[in-house]
Amino acid sequence: MRIGVLTGGGDCPGLNAVIRAVVRKGVSVYGHEFVGFRDGWRGPLEGDTMPLDIQAVRGILPRGGTILGSSRTNPIKIEGGVDRIKDNLAATGVDALIAIGGEDTLGVARQLSERGVNVVGVPKTIDNDLSGTDYTFGFDTAVNIATEAIDRLHTTAESHHRALICEVMGRHAGWIALHAGLAGGANVILIPEKPFDIDLVCEYVESRFRTRYSPIIVVAEGAHPIEGTMAVQTGELDAFGHVRLGGIGEVLAKEIEKRTGKEARTTVLGHIQRGGTPTAFDRVLATRFGLQAIDAAHDGDFGKMVALRGTDIVRVGLDEATAELKTVPPARYAEAEVFFG
Ligand code: F6P
Repeated sequence: MRIGVLTGGGDCPGLNAVIRAVVRKGVSVYGHEFVGFRDGWRGPLEGDTMPLDIQAVRGILPRGGTILGSSRTNPIKIEGGVDRIKDNLAATGVDALIAIGGEDTLGVARQLSERGVNVVGVPKTIDNDLSGTDYTFGFDTAVNIATEAIDRLHTTAESHHRALICEVMGRHAGWIALHAGLAGGANVILIPEKPFDIDLVCEYVESRFRTRYSPIIVVAEGAHPIEGTMAVQTGELDAFGHVRLGGIGEVLAKEIEKRTGKEARTTVLGHIQRGGTPTAFDRVLATRFGLQAIDAAHDGDFGKMVALRGTDIVRVGLDEATAELKTVPPARYAEAEVFFG
């Protein structure tokens, strides 16, 4: 078989580990050939390819980013996009595609699969918000980076008696904020799933100062106040219709300063959470996903996404995998609330 591989959407640590596993097993065990498509769906849309053999994947296991490049190109939104992809796959002699991506990339994979393209999906996102898999690779790395940042913020916050706000990624799901906030001993964690009460946040801040300890507030970029209680800003949309986020931490700092009279400052971790080398957990998960993905392609088991269930790697339908976002359940948030204030 000749198999195309692409990485789409926001990058995350572990993408290269998947590509390496797919190619290593595909070539050495099954004797397949590979072609890399550059920059997510833009690659097959424009027929932009690169060689992908064992030599090309040497040394990339610990490397962040993706050797294939990525983009948020949405071929479904482009007139004749699906047909162009089908024509380009035929022209490059590609029998099947392995698409590594999050909800948007895999949503496109599902639609292509429904229109006759042979696709296997691999879930990636630092957000860990894909239903169908217990964990996505990239999440553990992002949580570790955010936890280290929170640890460092604690010591400087205490020296200066400041409230420090740490804004982490998480558009619709607060998994990074929840895990990093719990691991880092945050004073309060704010997530998109639960609109926050600014009065209560300020109470937590003040109670932490009363114990002569400085509060660290961990806020997911998609968190928002209960409607009408605080002004927030909105930004422009991307090709999948998502607002560009970032800024809630700054808004929160101003409000906390105004209401408590304490100095409050914000650190936005942003893309630092997505860059650099993956943790050992993410390298292993990504490698196991890659091995299962090439097995599925070899078996002709298309329209599937590989997934982690417990400690097993299984295959689930792309429709099931992309049906809904996996958000933080109230009971998980309640565990963290025990430590607020
Ligand atoms: O989906 C992954 C993610 O990192 C989100 O947490 C974040 O909202 C978004 O991507 C940022 O995307 P971009 O890098 O395109 O600004």
